[in-house]
Amino acid sequence: MSDAGKDLIPGTEWWRTAVIYQIYPRSFADANGDGVGDLRGVTSRLPELEALGVDAIWLSPFYVSPQHDAGYDVADFTDVDPLFGTLDDFDHMLAEAHGRGIRVIVDMVPNHTSADHEWFQAALAAGPGSEERDHFVFREGTGEDGSEPPNNWQSVFGGPAWTRVTEADGNPGQWYLHLFDTSQPDLNWEHEWVAQQFDDILRFWLDRGADGFRVDVAHGLIKASGLPDHATAPGPVASGGDTLDNPAPFWAQEPVHDVWRRWRKVVDEYDGERVLCAEAWVYPLARMAKWVRPDEMHQSFNFAYLETAWDADALKQVITESLHEFSAVGAPSTWVLSNHDVVRHVSRLALTFDNPQGHGIGPNSPAMPDLDIGLKRARAATAMMLALPGSAYLYQGEELGLPEVIDIPDNARQDPTWARTNGERYGRDGCRVPLPWSPSEPAYGFSPTGASWLPQPEIWADFAREVQAGDPNSTLSLYTAALKARREFGTAACDLEWIADVPAGVVAFRVGEVTVYANLGDAPVPLPAGKILLASSPHDSELQPDTAVWLTH
Ligand code: NOJ
Repeated sequence: MSDAGKDLIPGTEWWRTAVIYQIYPRSFADANGDGVGDLRGVTSRLPELEALGVDAIWLSPFYVSPQHDAGYDVADFTDVDPLFGTLDDFDHMLAEAHGRGIRVIVDMVPNHTSADHEWFQAALAAGPGSEERDHFVFREGTGEDGSEPPNNWQSVFGGPAWTRVTEADGNPGQWYLHLFDTSQPDLNWEHEWVAQQFDDILRFWLDRGADGFRVDVAHGLIKASGLPDHATAPGPVASGGDTLDNPAPFWAQEPVHDVWRRWRKVVDEYDGERVLCAEAWVYPLARMAKWVRPDEMHQSFNFAYLETAWDADALKQVITESLHEFSAVGAPSTWVLSNHDVVRHVSRLALTFDNPQGHGIGPNSPAMPDLDIGLKRARAATAMMLALPGSAYLYQGEELGLPEVIDIPDNARQDPTWARTNGERYGRDGCRVPLPWSPSEPAYGFSPTGASWLPQPEIWADFAREVQAGDPNSTLSLYTAALKARREFGTAACDLEWIADVPAGVVAFRVGEVTVYANLGDAPVPLPAGKILLASSPHDSELQPDTAVWLTH
């Protein structure tokens, strides 16, 4: 049994209250100096994560991949890409993390493979009607000569979700489905062989000691039978697009839950409370909660919360609904404000225009976010989130208060969204820029050679971890203090009790001995009595706008 998580709140399963830190390996720390982060880089920075006080890390994919979608296009699910290191590097990193009481969750990408994967290459070679083709979603085209795609589905990254192959005889042939990039063919999860391969892949990582999986596109996998047209297409289809009034025939199909029941049995074969966390963009929360029924996954990212505007009533409503819906199935709510697919919350909370998930922001966006306001709001939002009952995910760099990088040159952008929409959507590069560790070292301490796969802005010097570590008012100090207080007061395992009769614009609640008071309004409000444990911004006798405090008596 792993000794990770030894300091968690006693009496609860670790994942119910854990703070899990997302590492985006390409952008975290680069040990070999090639400008792309790697597993040895992760190991070298574990002391900093231990000092921050996180319970676990989740690593985005580091598997063999041609990197057309930054590793979410996997060509071998059971090996490390040389870009990131070796399996030995993984084992070493995991042992070091466990030695520090930090659990390790890896990413699993079951909806699709890379087109370079041997399964897909075999399917191409074997031809129409073969068993190998049936591992993916191949269909004949429509129109007189089959030159039209099988249906009107659109890729999440823009453009059609189908690509036509050239058969062995040199003629245009069947089409294959890819809900994401052309280089990411969808697997056919109706085929038992596919399910069996993944049972083995899960066991491979569980045997190595992984503490669980973040499961990519957990609302995908199964498509409506007959692959009917999408009623609202053609047009862009966001991965956050599945709602009750706009259901997509490729998201949230009922039989997908059989897959998660199967996976739950696999992880339950292992000791040490291994977990599954769903990336399922489905609404409303009552539907999302189906992913965390007792025999399915343990956690599901609360994207409804992430997407809620900076508005007291909207936040109270989404928190109430989340606690209600998740507890109805015996699951914790899994709070999250940032990840590698969304605009960093420092920038997002100050946006003044509509910006759908995945579109990103860039130099030609309608308006630039005010970063002073954004940082204040982000600090308050995080202070509030870290007091809520349940588990929380942090995305690397948010503990430094990093904003989205807006001015990435067009020719440096790498997200397939940018190319597939001909620059209409900036995509997600702005939240993926390599981290600043030091103000004065090459690549701000990210890489010993100064190389960086995405250019880092000069303002990174001010945000560097080293600069913030000694400053009690820094965002890093706020995160560290919040994680310490969260543990000390056990807030994550308490019930939430709303405080009534507060001024308009205030969100106020009690969790155990702690009272959280947040002012989302435009004017200062009186600060309630009590000893201040934590404040997201400086305060006097009043609580300023965009500020949250934790109080005890
Ligand atoms: C969700 C991942 O978080 C995202 O980064 C990726 O592009 C898609 N799934 C496709 O795997």
